[in-house]
Amino acid sequence: MILGIETSCDDTSVAVLSLQGEVKALLSANQDTAHRPFGGVVPEVASRQHTETLLPLIDQTLNQARIEWPQVTGLAVTSRPGLIGSLLVGVVTAKALALARKIPFIGVNHIEGHLLAPLLKDETYSPPANFTFPYLGLAVSGGHTHLFLCEKPGRYHLLGRTVDDAAGEAFDKFAKMLKLGFPGGVEVDRLAIQGSPSAFSFPRALIHDDTLNFSFSGLKTAGLRAIESLSDPSQLEARKADLAASYQEAIVEVLVEKLKKAAHQTGLKSWTITGGVSANSGLRARASEVAQRAGATLALPPLRYCTDNAAMIALAGLYRLQNHESSRQDLSPSAHALATDWITP
Ligand code: KG4
Ligand code: ZN
Repeated sequence: MILGIETSCDDTSVAVLSLQGEVKALLSANQDTAHRPFGGVVPEVASRQHTETLLPLIDQTLNQARIEWPQVTGLAVTSRPGLIGSLLVGVVTAKALALARKIPFIGVNHIEGHLLAPLLKDETYSPPANFTFPYLGLAVSGGHTHLFLCEKPGRYHLLGRTVDDAAGEAFDKFAKMLKLGFPGGVEVDRLAIQGSPSAFSFPRALIHDDTLNFSFSGLKTAGLRAIESLSDPSQLEARKADLAASYQEAIVEVLVEKLKKAAHQTGLKSWTITGGVSANSGLRARASEVAQRAGATLALPPLRYCTDNAAMIALAGLYRLQNHESSRQDLSPSAHALATDWITP
């Protein structure tokens, strides 16, 4: 069994994975209540919460998987990218446990975890039958918007990425402007269902651009302008759903368009969308439609594997440990997203 640990941002998560990639237990402790009063993730609060939560959560996860420590043959931990204090808690814990238990451990890139999430298996989920390597992986979350050609475990070619904000960040900032609470993406999604996606005209940056890059900072500014144009509070209240629907539509359209373009360029028929934003109902519906029309297989993992979770980290670690890779005790976490050790140029 592999024990996975994820503490890169504001979720403490632990998973037990069999050597066949089946999730035996996955427990996550969400910190939303601690960060809500501040309207966003406070790094110091996040690290403190991880410190208090992680060890008891590891015990609970082993209990739930009904296994004892001697059955754990390897450890996988997110070592980058993320909040440095949060990453440190996971990495230091994994190192200490590896040393004490005399088992190998491996530092995992969080984005690699997101890209591999569709390959997880449990009692109610397994990847679609035709979904195989090589595949297109769109990882969209609060911290990243990256499009990859996933060739095989450990080999990923970056096709495009956001040049400024991540899609999730664009959702969260807009939710904050509309005073929808934290975390905002899911609130925009909920409100968008009641509004018209064509009520407001928002920019689709880089949509006709030759590259597979994304840009969302202009959209954020346009969102703010639209809100400011509705100066009367009752008028704003009445248009909130339309604003949310139109704003979401702009993000979804760009994401799906770039996925389509990447599919056209590469000829790949297996696609996946992962990361917190892949929970978005508009994105799921649109991408499914486009995949069906293109005769492609779209893997949309269940939400527990889309948002930050330790099962995807355990799977990335499992592949690497099976490939005889492991980390040394001097491994340091890094806040930076793209390291050359796992991205093929
Ligand atoms: O992958 P994740 O849990 O953490 C990061 O690595 O960032 O993603 C969190 C992001 C947040 O920006 C959140 O607002 C967004 O995913 N999100 C959504 C939805 N659910 C979560 N965005 C749009 N629609 C949703 N339903
Ligand atoms: Zn993430």
